[in-house]
Amino acid sequence: MMPATVFRPAEPPEMPVEEEHHAFVELEKVTHTYGRGDRKIQALIETDLRIEQGDFVALVGPSGCGKSTILKLVTGLITASSGYVYVAGREVGAEPVRVGMAFQNPTMLPWLSLRDNVMLPLKIVPPFRREYRAKRRGEFRDRVEALLAQVGLGGFSDKYPWQLSGGMLQRASLCRALIHEPQLLMLDEPFGALDQFTREELWAVMQDLWMTRKPTVLLVTHDLKEAAYLASRICVMRARPGRIVEESEVAFPRPRTIAMSYEPNFVALTQRLRELIMSAQADKEETS
Ligand SMILES: Nc1ncnc2c1ncn2[C@@H]1O[C@H](COP(=O)(O)OP(=O)(O)OP(=O)(O)O)[C@@H](O)[C@H]1O
Ligand SMILES: [Mg+2]
Repeated sequence: MMPATVFRPAEPPEMPVEEEHHAFVELEKVTHTYGRGDRKIQALIETDLRIEQGDFVALVGPSGCGKSTILKLVTGLITASSGYVYVAGREVGAEPVRVGMAFQNPTMLPWLSLRDNVMLPLKIVPPFRREYRAKRRGEFRDRVEALLAQVGLGGFSDKYPWQLSGGMLQRASLCRALIHEPQLLMLDEPFGALDQFTREELWAVMQDLWMTRKPTVLLVTHDLKEAAYLASRICVMRARPGRIVEESEVAFPRPRTIAMSYEPNFVALTQRLRELIMSAQADKEETS
């Protein structure tokens, strides 16, 4: 029998796809309101933010201006009330993106050794989870040891969290945030609970980790010196309603040092940021 002829509609001609360029992280006219009715709190009004891949951006601003809200929107923990949040070119949540996080409180699991705490993301996050079960446990162990050594914790991996100081735990927490090679690293005041000397030591550790791995970083901090030391761009926010009011490029060469933070350009930058935030706070008092 003759095969029936099948008529198919002509394939549409291939159109050149004009890909819209999205930065690695992009907020477009994002607003966020918590609660409803009388309890409504507008945490953010139309906010735009672009972070290119491998960039290090710091968010500074008065308490309650919406810094943590931006971190939560970018990780998809909360959804924007309006506007768009893109991560890796897709709307947030559309595609799994590996994220690492560290907060003010390092929250290690007390029943696990430092090694096992840092290893945790490799046991949970795909594709490492499968590989961990399969065979690469030993290899992963080496990777954890190497990272702990890089932050000055070589030889401590058998210790338990209660045997370590706050600064050591925070170092370990940075390792845990980075062990699964996240594309995006979210830091919410990770050095806030440390004394000044330990904090400055950890800036150097963080800078080294960033320079060797180049994740895209969004750092929330109240410490302007910390922002100027670590970030390549600083966004200043205002409260009520929260929004980004200024962005500054930070062009100091890397690796940066504490000595640099006493140089006139550096001091001028932190001074200007301070004035912006003070005036933001004054606005807030006027409107409250
Ligand atoms: N889950 C929530 N429910 C209701 N309101 C919230 C919630 N989370 C935050 N807010 C409010 O939204 C605003 C922004 O909060 P956010 O935590 O983003 O501020 P922040 O800039 O991180 O402050 P801080 O520097 O004190 O950490 C604040 O007024 C806060 O009270
Ligand atoms: Mg916060």
